[in-house]
Amino acid sequence: NLFDFGMIGLGVMGRNLLLNMADHGFSVIGFDKDAVKNAALESAATPGTTVKGVPELAQMIQLLQPPRKIMMLVPAGKPVDDVIDSLLPLVEKEDIIIDGGNSHYTDTLRRVQYLGERGIHFMGMGVSGGEQGARSGPSIMPGGDQTAYKNVKPMLEAIAAKVDGTPCVAYLGRSGAGHYVKMVHNGIEYAIMQLISETYAILKHAGLSNQQLHEVFKSWNEGKLQSFLVEITADIFLQKDDQSAADLVDVISDKAGSKGTGKWTSQDSMELPVAVPVIDTAVAMRTLSGYKDERVKASQLYAENNTEVPVATEEFIQQVHDALYFATILSYAQGLAMLFQASKYLSMEIPLPDVVSVWRGGCIIRSSLLETFAKAYKEEVELSNILLNQEVATLVKSVEKNTRSLVAFAANSGIPAAGLMSSLSYFDAFRTESMPTNLIQAQRDYFGAHTYQRIDIPGIFHTEWGPQ
Ligand code: 6PG
Repeated sequence: NLFDFGMIGLGVMGRNLLLNMADHGFSVIGFDKDAVKNAALESAATPGTTVKGVPELAQMIQLLQPPRKIMMLVPAGKPVDDVIDSLLPLVEKEDIIIDGGNSHYTDTLRRVQYLGERGIHFMGMGVSGGEQGARSGPSIMPGGDQTAYKNVKPMLEAIAAKVDGTPCVAYLGRSGAGHYVKMVHNGIEYAIMQLISETYAILKHAGLSNQQLHEVFKSWNEGKLQSFLVEITADIFLQKDDQSAADLVDVISDKAGSKGTGKWTSQDSMELPVAVPVIDTAVAMRTLSGYKDERVKASQLYAENNTEVPVATEEFIQQVHDALYFATILSYAQGLAMLFQASKYLSMEIPLPDVVSVWRGGCIIRSSLLETFAKAYKEEVELSNILLNQEVATLVKSVEKNTRSLVAFAANSGIPAAGLMSSLSYFDAFRTESMPTNLIQAQRDYFGAHTYQRIDIPGIFHTEWGPQ
C-alpha cells in the first residue's frame, strides 16, 4: 500500500502537519535521518491512523503513490536547495514538491523555474500557526504551480484551520506568491508583537503587576482587540519560572531573536517601493535589543529624565488599549498595501480578499479585525489601502484621540514606543493631501539638478538655485 503524502524534515512542524493529515484519513510517511524523530512521529500517531517514519529518502520516495506529493519543512536557504538536489534523481515527471518553510520568495521563483524545466511541479507555501497550529489546524498560504495546488487541495483543506466551516487555505497567486504572502504575514506579526511589547512597557511603568497585566490583556482579548497574540500575551504573564520564584517573563533576556522574515518584508517593501514603517520599526527594535552593552552604558549616561509616572486609571488603560488598536490596524494596513503593490508590480495576482480570509484562523496574526478587512475587500476588491475603506476609517477615528494622548505621554515619559509613534506618524502623513516633500524636491534640484514637477503647469522643471 503506497502512501498519500510524504514529508522531509520531521522537526516539530513537519511531524505535527503529518499527524494532522493522518487524523484526516490520509496515509503519511516522513523522512528524517534522525531515528529519534522517526520514532517520535510514529509513537505520536493517533491509533488507527497510517503514519510511518523512515531514515532513507529513497525509501520514502518508493513508498509514495505517484504523482508523489512531497513536502519539505527544512530551514530556509541552502538546506532547501540541498534537499531538492537529493530529491531530483529520485522523483519522476509530474511529481509535486512543496516547500512549506519560510523561504525567501525569490528563491522560490528560482526553484519553480529550475524544477519546472525538469517536469516537476514545485509550490512555495506559507504555513502559519506554530507547533499547535500545525497539529490542530494551521493557516496555509500556497501559491505558484496550479497543477500542484489542485492535486493537494483536498489535503490542505482537510488539515487547515476552519472559520465558520471555511478552511483557512486558498490559492494566493502566481509564482512565489505563497511565500511572499507568508513573508508579509510575518512582517505584520513582527509589527504587532512590537506594539504589544510597547503597551506592556507603558503599563508596567504605570505600576501594573504581572497579575494585573494578565487581567488587562485578558479583558482586551474579550473585546475588539481579540487576537491570538493578545491572548497568548495574557497567558505569558501568569507563567511561573521553574528555576526560581520569579514570573518567567521577568527573567527572560530582552535580546530578541529573529529568523529574517520581518527583515525581508522591510527590504522588499523598499524594493517595490511601499511604505511599511511600523514593520521597519519592529525589525529595528529587535536589532537594537541585541545591543545590550551599549544600552546598559547609555542607560547610565542618560539616566536622568523627567519620567512622568502615570496613575493606571481606567481611562489611562483605555488610552493604551486604543493606541494598540489603532497601531494594529495600521500594521495590517501597511502589510496589505504591500501585498497590493507586489501583486501588481511582481505580477503575482494575489487575491487580497482570500488573503484576509485565510488569515482569519490558524495563523499567528489571526484576529477579529480580519473580519472587518474581509468586509472591506468584499465592498472593493481593488482596495489599495484598507485605510481608505469607510468602516475602517470609522474605527481608526474612534481611537485617534486616545492614541495621540498616549503617544504624547510616552514621549514625555521617555518610554520607547517607536511602533506606536510610527503608526501615528504614518497615519498623519497618509491623510495629508500635501506633504512637505515639495521642499525635498527643491533641495534635490538645488544641489543635484534632479528636476521637479509643478502643481500648476505640467512638465519637468529645473531651476538655477542660489542665494537670493
Ligand atoms: C508562523 C510564524 C513562524 C515564524 C516564527 C519565528 O506564522 O507560524 O511566523 O513561521 O518562523 O514566528 O519567527 P522569528 O524567529 O523571525 O521571530
